[in-house]
Amino acid sequence: MSGFSGKNVLVTGATSGIGRETAVCFAEAGAKVIIVGRNRERGEKIAERIRSNGGNAVFESCDISIPEDVVRLKNSLENESIKIDVLVNNAGIFITQSLEDIDYSDWTASFRANVDGAMLMTKEFIIDLKERKGCIINNASVSGLDIFTSGTKNYMYGASKSALIKFSKLCALNYAPDVRVNVVCPGIVDTEIFENRDFSRFDGVIPMGYISKPEQIAKVIRFLASEDANYITGAVIPVDGGMSLK
Ligand SMILES: NC(=O)c1ccc[n+]([C@@H]2O[C@H](COP(=O)([O-])OP(=O)(O)OC[C@H]3O[C@@H](n4cnc5c(N)ncnc54)[C@H](OP(=O)(O)O)[C@@H]3O)[C@@H](O)[C@H]2O)c1
Repeated sequence: MSGFSGKNVLVTGATSGIGRETAVCFAEAGAKVIIVGRNRERGEKIAERIRSNGGNAVFESCDISIPEDVVRLKNSLENESIKIDVLVNNAGIFITQSLEDIDYSDWTASFRANVDGAMLMTKEFIIDLKERKGCIINNASVSGLDIFTSGTKNYMYGASKSALIKFSKLCALNYAPDVRVNVVCPGIVDTEIFENRDFSRFDGVIPMGYISKPEQIAKVIRFLASEDANYITGAVIPVDGGMSLK
């Protein structure tokens, strides 16, 4: 696949998990990938891995939840004459707690990483995306879907991901036809976001019968950014093996 040659694709949270696989996936399709995250060591390593496989990638450190950091990222890309065609707002954190035990700092951290970050990045890059007829893919979760209300400790994650979905739909409406904006909602994906990687606790939860690999989400993200998806905007797509049907 080479549909992205000449395109600049920025992926937040690309130092790990789904974001890392998304960066690799776009690089394999010919894009120049801008890997964004806070962890320089992991970010540089992924960029190097992509380059050693013949791809084009750079790492830019940024905490997407800090407004000044996002402005600095934009300026840094501008200084290198990089304008982005695809923005993947993937970075996020997963904190769960029962209502009685919610620590307010965890609540604000969840919203800052899962909603504020996508808003700050979108606000900063929307003019470029509009000029270049680009697109945005936001990574929410089945936890943010109205139809999915399971989880006795899902308040912070679920509420923040619902907010991200609403934000995405408003952007899709207001920036059509110039910028397409879509959302993927993964179910359970085998990544570092889980401290406990023994997924047997989810046995029977997923109709497709297994936990997904990050590349299965990455390929859907790449599809949504591709020309094949040029009539899709404002879509919220579960990529969950049927988990949200239950
Ligand atoms: N895994 C799942 O089952 C699942 C299911 C549904 C949705 N999702 C969503 O998928 C996205 C990726 O998750 P993952 O499973 O791949 O988790 P992960 O492996 O823990 O990756 C999370 C990424 O987000 C980055 N990040 C977090 N806060 C950041 C911040 N303030 N600024 C910049 N980068 C930040 C981290 O990078 P640094 O540490 O380098 O900053 C890391 O690269 C998240 O939005 C998550 O909610 C995951």
